[in-house]
Amino acid sequence: MSGSSQALKTGVIEIACGEGTYTIAALTNNVIKVSYQDTLTSESKQYAAVLSEPIAMQLEEQDNHIVAKTQGVKLEITRSPFSINFCDEQTGSKLKGGEFSRKEGIASFKFGLKNHEAMYGMGSRGMQMNRRGHKLLNYNSHEPGNGMGFEVMNYSIPHLASSEQYMLLFDNPARAWMDIGKTQTDALEYTSEGGNMVYYFVNGQSFEELMGEYTQLTGKQPLPPLWAMGYIQSRFGYRTQQEATEELDKLLEAGYPVDAMILDLYWFSDHEKPKCMGNLDFNQKHWPKPKEMIQYFASKGVKTIPITEPFFTTNSDHYKDLRNNELLVKNRAGEVRTLPEFFWGEAALLDIFKPEAQAWMWERYKYMKQYGFDGWWVDLCEPEIHPEDMVHVNGKAAEVHGIFGHQWAQMLFEGYAKDYPEERVFQLSRAGFAGSQRFGVVPWSGDVRRSWDGLKAQPLIMLSVGMSGIGYMHSDAGGFIYGEKDPELYTRWMQYAVFTPVVRPHACGEIYPEPTFWSEEVQNHIKLFINLRYQLLPYNYTLAWKNSVTGMPLARPLFTQFANVPDTVEDQYMWGDSILVAPVLDKGIRNRNVYLPKGNWYDFWNHQFLQGDSTINVGLTMDSIPVYVKSGSIIPTTPEVQSTSFYTGETLQMTYYVGSENSQTQLYFDDGKTNNAYERGMYELVTIAATVNKGEIILSTQVAGKGYGGAPKKRLYVFELIGLAQAPKEVSIAGKALSHEWNQEKNTVSFETDLNDDVIIAI
Ligand code: NOJ
Repeated sequence: MSGSSQALKTGVIEIACGEGTYTIAALTNNVIKVSYQDTLTSESKQYAAVLSEPIAMQLEEQDNHIVAKTQGVKLEITRSPFSINFCDEQTGSKLKGGEFSRKEGIASFKFGLKNHEAMYGMGSRGMQMNRRGHKLLNYNSHEPGNGMGFEVMNYSIPHLASSEQYMLLFDNPARAWMDIGKTQTDALEYTSEGGNMVYYFVNGQSFEELMGEYTQLTGKQPLPPLWAMGYIQSRFGYRTQQEATEELDKLLEAGYPVDAMILDLYWFSDHEKPKCMGNLDFNQKHWPKPKEMIQYFASKGVKTIPITEPFFTTNSDHYKDLRNNELLVKNRAGEVRTLPEFFWGEAALLDIFKPEAQAWMWERYKYMKQYGFDGWWVDLCEPEIHPEDMVHVNGKAAEVHGIFGHQWAQMLFEGYAKDYPEERVFQLSRAGFAGSQRFGVVPWSGDVRRSWDGLKAQPLIMLSVGMSGIGYMHSDAGGFIYGEKDPELYTRWMQYAVFTPVVRPHACGEIYPEPTFWSEEVQNHIKLFINLRYQLLPYNYTLAWKNSVTGMPLARPLFTQFANVPDTVEDQYMWGDSILVAPVLDKGIRNRNVYLPKGNWYDFWNHQFLQGDSTINVGLTMDSIPVYVKSGSIIPTTPEVQSTSFYTGETLQMTYYVGSENSQTQLYFDDGKTNNAYERGMYELVTIAATVNKGEIILSTQVAGKGYGGAPKKRLYVFELIGLAQAPKEVSIAGKALSHEWNQEKNTVSFETDLNDDVIIAI
């Protein structure tokens, strides 16, 4: 067919080339799937992706060339030598290449990189966010004592976000390398030892649009329970029921809000000899009345989460049963492959890819759940030890390594959907894959070193993983392992953690992670921040909801929201749309530079007005870290509560940082626990538009949603406007004067309203 033009019905283009065939399909107007299949590649499967149905493309074919179009992307395809020019319909060429090759058993896809192109993503790595110039391994790896300089860690994601406004996803769990302009400065090469040779090109005009498309392809994170936004206390580990209870009591007595307690492996093992991993049941001797303990925690608004692992030691309760039922991973000879070198004693690994093993494990979770647990911790699921000679039901260790944690998360998620459809799943998970967000994973950065280098890596890890769709990456606040007792480090880490998706101090050894372990001075400094976490609940929960509907991570690099950010600015980020955080990541520093992007800003602490597109040098004290608010934002806060269980959202403090432009703020409320509340309409979404006219500001409100059980009958919004030059002439609602107070010293005006009508502030 030459010179013809036609609309493809299926949208699938097949091109035979070399020993195999390329298949090119559009899955949305902005998502293109390309795969290559020959006799050596495995049958094409989907692990990260959930979209599979092609849409129609407009097609023109001329000799060696095909032009395929969606309403967003134009593909200029050359049959031989094969290449694709991926173009945006409006802005032109974004990426070229995409040809497959195979050398000595290693399969590859190769693309060109533009001169100034920066590449982000690739998961958890202790290095700069722009991966250009590096060749990175995709292989989830447990690295005890990690921090800066660790290029491979426990959460690899074969996904890249380009500064040229496109994304690339390689949906292949096999061990693979991504050479991002290291060997050849202008080339990107993905090489894999096997598996699925498929990639997705995602197009968009902005990071937000790209995230929307990418999470349409790989799934959105379901909204976690509200308590996940609270303070979660962990330690390796509470050794007895008495110790766990005493530590919680100490926290509560000292006035800390707490939402969850985490039980590490001593919950199932005799702590003298923790050699029964896999018992997955309370050790009776040290935890004589676990249900009562969990109920007592619940009475204080505190949830309980136990650790679980995929390894079963040979002396553990279920080992024989699992072995006899062929649920353990085997070696090439078909025998159970035990791991004599395993830290907790000789053990074997559950073959989570077997449906029967999934069913067994899910039954075990159901058994554990009868104690009253509210969420789960899934440890060691890279898997931590995974020798080459292990053979799973679906492939060799190296072929399926990347999706072990992903599959585990899916089992838990689907188990909930089947047996507890009303509940939201909470799962801390140490390893996963692209797309794991759709199973509700809450990952952490593994066993980070208790050091400044360990801390320094954390924003980079959180932001990079977030750019690849996993919005809840966080760290063991305070640092997990090695290092010295350093009150300054602990303070800075805790202050930073308050502006991360999950606040969960955790540590091993005798430098304990509970704030109550530290001096009064340290506690004074961090208590303020833990309380702030609770005050910010309405803001943070809205952020979590936005992530669940748009895919936008909770914490984002500045350049995803602002133009012309120097790429050296990697130690600051946006916490949601409005709050800029500049954590303190170095010991002993008395000041740090903060880059404020274009626009106007307010200092969060003293409300000082600052002009952006500038770098300021900020003096530091131990009781604070630099935080700024984008002008025009309304930051909702709530009076402090001891646990999110006691949060009602009845009275909200609304701090409006007056801007010169119109702005919009959303506030999402639901009961904090019902699954799919938003999808079912069981929510209240308050949208407040601030219209800034000459001489007046109008605050108008819209409410959507059917409401939810336990919602306050009325909300009281206590407004404070920051940044007015003088007292307003009048504040009115529905034509009636609204009583307000002008603070001459701070130049703020405050008033209370139910927002049932437009509020007009005449200035
Ligand atoms: C390794 C985990 O990363 C860590 O958080 C945990 O405390 C230990 N395993 C013991 O369970």
